[in-house]
Amino acid sequence: MKDKYIIIGSDHAGFDLKEIIKQFLVAEGFEIGDIGVYSKDSADYPVIAKQAAYKTAENNCRAILICGTGIGMSIAANKVKNIRAVVCSDTTSAKFSRLHNNSNILCFGSRIIGENLAKDICKIWLETEFEAGRHQKRIDMIE
Ligand code: RB5
Repeated sequence: MKDKYIIIGSDHAGFDLKEIIKQFLVAEGFEIGDIGVYSKDSADYPVIAKQAAYKTAENNCRAILICGTGIGMSIAANKVKNIRAVVCSDTTSAKFSRLHNNSNILCFGSRIIGENLAKDICKIWLETEFEAGRHQKRIDMIE
C-alpha cells in the first residue's frame, strides 16, 4: 500500500460526512484521492463504488466509502476482483477486518454512525496492518 494515500468517495447521503472525514484525514497527514460526489445532488452509489474499487485494486491502495448505511457501497465494491470491502459501525470490527481479512475498502453509513465514531473507525482501520500468516490462506481461498 502507498502509505498515507487514501481514496474517498460517497453518494449524496454520505457527502457531508465525506467532507468531514476528508478534513480529518488531511489533518492526520493523508493524501486524499476524492472521487466524488461533490455535492448533495442525488447520485447512484454503485457508480462511485465501482470507480473506487477499480482504483483501489489497480493501485494496491485503500479506500473509504460512505453512503446512507455503507451497505450498498460494500455490496457493489465487492463485485471487483481483489476487493475486500467491509461495513463497520464499530472500532473492533474495523480492527479485525484489517488483522484477519486484509480489508482494503472501509464502508460506513452517515445515517448509522456519528462523525466522532466515524473518525475513530477510520483511524484504527488505517493504523492496523494485516496479520497474514494463517489468514493469508483464507484470503487466497476467497480469491
Ligand atoms: C440512498 O438513499 C441510500 O439508499 C444509499 O445511500 C445507501 O444507503 C445504500 O446502501
